Amino acid sequence: MFRRTSNMTGLSYSLDVITMLKHVDMWSFDVFALNDASGNHALKIVFFELLNRYNLINRFKIPTSALTSFVESLEMGYSKYKNPYHNLIHAADVTQTVHYLLIKSGIMHWLTELEIFAIIFAAAIHDYEHTGTTNNFHIQTRSDTALFYNDRAVLENHHVSAVYRLLHDNEEMNILSNLSKEEWRELRALVVDMVLATDMSCHFQQIKAMKSFLQQSEAIDKPKALSLLLHTADISHPAKCWDLHHRWTTSLLEEFFRQGDREAELGLPFSPLCDRKSTMVAQSQIGFIDFIVEPTFTVLTEMIENIVTPLIEETSRSELPVFRQYSTGSDGKQSSMKSTHSEGSCSLTTVDFKGFRGTWNQKIHQNRETWRDQAGKVSHRLCKFPHLK
Ligand code: CMP
Ligand code: MG
Ligand code: ZN
Repeated sequence: MFRRTSNMTGLSYSLDVITMLKHVDMWSFDVFALNDASGNHALKIVFFELLNRYNLINRFKIPTSALTSFVESLEMGYSKYKNPYHNLIHAADVTQTVHYLLIKSGIMHWLTELEIFAIIFAAAIHDYEHTGTTNNFHIQTRSDTALFYNDRAVLENHHVSAVYRLLHDNEEMNILSNLSKEEWRELRALVVDMVLATDMSCHFQQIKAMKSFLQQSEAIDKPKALSLLLHTADISHPAKCWDLHHRWTTSLLEEFFRQGDREAELGLPFSPLCDRKSTMVAQSQIGFIDFIVEPTFTVLTEMIENIVTPLIEETSRSELPVFRQYSTGSDGKQSSMKSTHSEGSCSLTTVDFKGFRGTWNQKIHQNRETWRDQAGKVSHRLCKFPHLK
């Protein structure tokens, strides 16, 4: 049943897990199926697999025992509040989605190994010890965390701070112990920037700033680009196939409704989407897609095309193109990150902007239509039974 992989981490994967990891480069990757096949360890599997594929375990001399202890604690932190949505599956999903964006858009060729490590690490930790309640709930209830962070990016500050404390207080978990001082500082600065930028209250400012950057054709700031990549992955489920999107939506709304139940008990007004009796699910999702998700993917794609097009041109002019690579299997055969060939699905010569844009665009469109059908059915029912309005 189990096969020991030679991926340096010493992890034994079941055949089911090995089969599922073959799809880790795909937009339709089923993280829920991986989680079931791995006994609720989707985050551990995805994190190990990607560090291994990008050769980051070797490059940053990550002690494998530390990696195991760290990721076990990470999974425990994600399971602390038993959240329907903000759990280790969401962290694994965002990490795998970041990976897809890196390889399919070609942007990985613009990044250093340290920056790739930073974004994979940031994705894995970005909701660590999420309480299943929103920043606003923390602020309204004057929680310890809200008091500690002065009501600013309360949860996001906690996610990143608590993980760094874990690494700092437990040497046996310290996966960053062999980074040089400079590498450690650079990684930390990027991780802090990226995780803080997942706070939804930064969303409109982040989009506006990136749009104006692109219009002025200024050189794009790496931390800003990485932050937009992570933020997009964080809100990407409405751009996935319906079954995945629907499952994520149901989980998130259940989490919101539980907060609503607590708000009612405490005599607080309901936060948006938190009243289980009156929330219009389909309409709320259409709004989220139209005002948040689609504009984010549009700006991200424009940013990527801006960054990657000159790299492709440069490559086609030079005789010996330099590609950044990662190994394409969990068999431990790692290729160097820098290489002179163009095999695999992640070389600059195979970047397909049209295909990339088409993938998310088509799913968003289909999901919006499905929600519209559902919203239509509900309002049709309400017309027939006006007393239910
Ligand atoms: P988090 O994962 O911390 O960061 C992104 C946030 O976007 C997420 O929490 C939710 O608060 C919000 N979000 C994600 N998906 C949806 C959705 N389908 N509808 C409404 N809000 C969402
Ligand atoms: Mg978050
Ligand atoms: Zn998240």
